[in-house]
Amino acid sequence: MSLRSIRTMDVALQRVLLRADLDVPMESGKVGDDSRLKAALPTINYLLEHKAEIIIIGHLGRPEGKPVPELRLAPVVRRLSELGNLTNLVSAGSFLDPAAKEAINSLTPGRIIIFENIRFYPGEDSNDPKFAAQLASLGQLYVNDCFSTAHRSSASLVGVAQLLPSFAGIDLENEVNSLSKLLSHEQPPLGVILGGKKKDKLEYLPEFIEKADFVLLGSALAAHLTDAEKNGLGQKVIIGSGEKDLDTDSQQKFADALKTAKTVIWGGPLGKFEEGFTEGSKAVAEAIIASGAVSIVGGGDTLAVLDKLDLTQRMTYASEAGGAMLVFMSGRKLPALAALGYYD
Ligand code: 3PG
Repeated sequence: MSLRSIRTMDVALQRVLLRADLDVPMESGKVGDDSRLKAALPTINYLLEHKAEIIIIGHLGRPEGKPVPELRLAPVVRRLSELGNLTNLVSAGSFLDPAAKEAINSLTPGRIIIFENIRFYPGEDSNDPKFAAQLASLGQLYVNDCFSTAHRSSASLVGVAQLLPSFAGIDLENEVNSLSKLLSHEQPPLGVILGGKKKDKLEYLPEFIEKADFVLLGSALAAHLTDAEKNGLGQKVIIGSGEKDLDTDSQQKFADALKTAKTVIWGGPLGKFEEGFTEGSKAVAEAIIASGAVSIVGGGDTLAVLDKLDLTQRMTYASEAGGAMLVFMSGRKLPALAALGYYD
């Protein structure tokens, strides 16, 4: 399994459509944690240095196919531009507007245009073939540098990759190479911790119950399950309790289970950290450190709580991606990686 890296391609004078990771947490209309934007810079700088003409597309949040004013990319573009000192970056609105064509035609090497939130269009989430073709017509080469959405089958990740010569960006390549090394060296006993509130994480539960020696489920996530569903999960799963934070009883149960682990995969905080509830996540992070297990953690919120606790550096590997990291480590194929030819 391998990726075609953009670093193997002569991009000079090529119009490159770059799917970047712009999905950052927003706080009162401003970018909160900007680590995903920092991670986007190596590919952007590579393309600039090698004289490509760059068109960036990306998403913010879940607007579900319609424009949502709070999810416009303007503040993200401003922050990206500041971080990378990208004086040649211009916001070009909707890529379907007639003005977009003009902006693209006036692109020259070393200049960048960035289009509005790609999830404002219904064709994105549904991977509509016509929409994917419209996107593909923007560029000559396609680069995917958004590992955090690699478990999605959207048009800007899958459809367009099938229509243009497609390559992996530097951050996506680093994430996949690091995680695949960890996956191939995975030692049992394996413990998986699923937290946060995004219900989709429950989709990965069956694979992890099959593969792991134990699964620790945070209370906010477990709240999406009926009592019958909880009872049907079997003995490998320990469900935490506590409304805003993991209660002390559950912290102890989780810590006891983690004592034996040689590998731990963790996605999603164990309490409402944004409201200051970090005790559960802290207890779990400390138990992982004490166990000496290889630890793979991921996702914006998980890294935010670990950063707050100053414990990110104590984990073996911290991925920018939450859902995509979990799917990758579950062993399931990711559609956007398949579209890049990773599994061929
Ligand atoms: C993430 O934040 O994990 C990615 O941007 C994926 O977002 P999604 O779950 O809305 O597809």
